Amino acid sequence: MDTAALQGLLKDLPLGPLRFYDRLGSTNDEAARWAEAGAPDLSLVVADEQTAGRGRLRRRWYTPPGSALAFSLVLRPESSGSGPEVQPILRAPGSFPEEEKDLSKLPSKFLPRLTALGALAVCTALRESYRLSPQIKWPNDVLVGRQKLAGVLAEATWGGERLDAVILGIGVNVAPPSVPPEAEVATPATFVEAVLGRPVDRWNLLRSTLAALLSWRSRLASPEFWQAWEDSLAFRGETVYLQVEGQAPLEGQVLGLDQEGALRLRLPTGEVTTLQIGEVRLRPVDSPPRSTKLDRER
Ligand code: BTN
Repeated sequence: MDTAALQGLLKDLPLGPLRFYDRLGSTNDEAARWAEAGAPDLSLVVADEQTAGRGRLRRRWYTPPGSALAFSLVLRPESSGSGPEVQPILRAPGSFPEEEKDLSKLPSKFLPRLTALGALAVCTALRESYRLSPQIKWPNDVLVGRQKLAGVLAEATWGGERLDAVILGIGVNVAPPSVPPEAEVATPATFVEAVLGRPVDRWNLLRSTLAALLSWRSRLASPEFWQAWEDSLAFRGETVYLQVEGQAPLEGQVLGLDQEGALRLRLPTGEVTTLQIGEVRLRPVDSPPRSTKLDRER
C-alpha cells in the first residue's frame, strides 16, 4: 500500500487529505502534529506498522507490519473552510444545543461521544460487510464473542483555551501478529481473520469503517446515534468490575448508558450510579509551536 493507492481506494469518500506510512511511531501523534500544522477536518493518517502505538491508560498498542489497521482522523470542531463539504462535528444535524457548543468547556462530555463514533464505525463495518455481531465494551473497546478486536483512542488538542481538534485513533486486529501477548492484555484479544475463519483485505475493512464513520458522524447528536451506541453495549445485565484509576474496583450490574454516554451501574447496595469516562488529564505536546496541549481521555 502507498498514499496514492489508498487515495484511489478511498476516492469516493468525502475525507480530507491522507498520509500513508509504512512505519510510524503512533498515528495519533502524527495526526496531532499535522493538526497543529493546519490539517483540515477529516485528514487521515494511516500506518502499516506502529512502533509506539498506544491505547488508553498509557497501555501499549501492538501494530506489527502487515497485520492490523491503525489510523487516525483529525476532526475539527468547526469547518476550517479548506476541507471537503462535510458536516464538522459541531454542525451535525440534530445538533448539540447552543449552550453545549462550547466544547472546550466540556471535553469529558464530548470525547466519549467521539470515542463511541469510532467504536460504532468499526461495529457497523464488521456487521454490514462481514456479518459479525460486535459489541462495545464501554467505553472504547470493540468485542466479538467477548474478545477484543479493536480499540479507540480519542484525544483533544488545544490552542490555549480553545478546542482545536480531536484526534480519533482506531486500531483493529486483523491477522494473527496483531494480537498482543496474553500477559499484556486486560481483555482477552482476538482478530478479524480468526472470527471469520478466512483472510481479510485490511484496506477494504478500512474503507467500510471510514464509510460507516462518515455516516455516523453526520448523525452524531441524533437519537439514532445514541440508540445504536446503547444497543451495542456489551455485558448488559451482567455484573462487572470497573476499575477507575486510583480507586478500589467498583462492582455493579451494567444497566446501560445515560444520554451523555456515561455507564449506568447498579451497585450491590441497589443504588444506581453513572460513571463518566474519567478525569481528563492534560500533557504538553513536545515542542509546541504555540501553547497547545494534548488532552488524553483516561
Ligand atoms: C485502547 O484500546 O486502549 C485504544 C487503542 C487505540 C489504538 C489506535 S491504533 C491507531 C491510533 N494510534 C495510536 O497510537 N493509538 C490509536
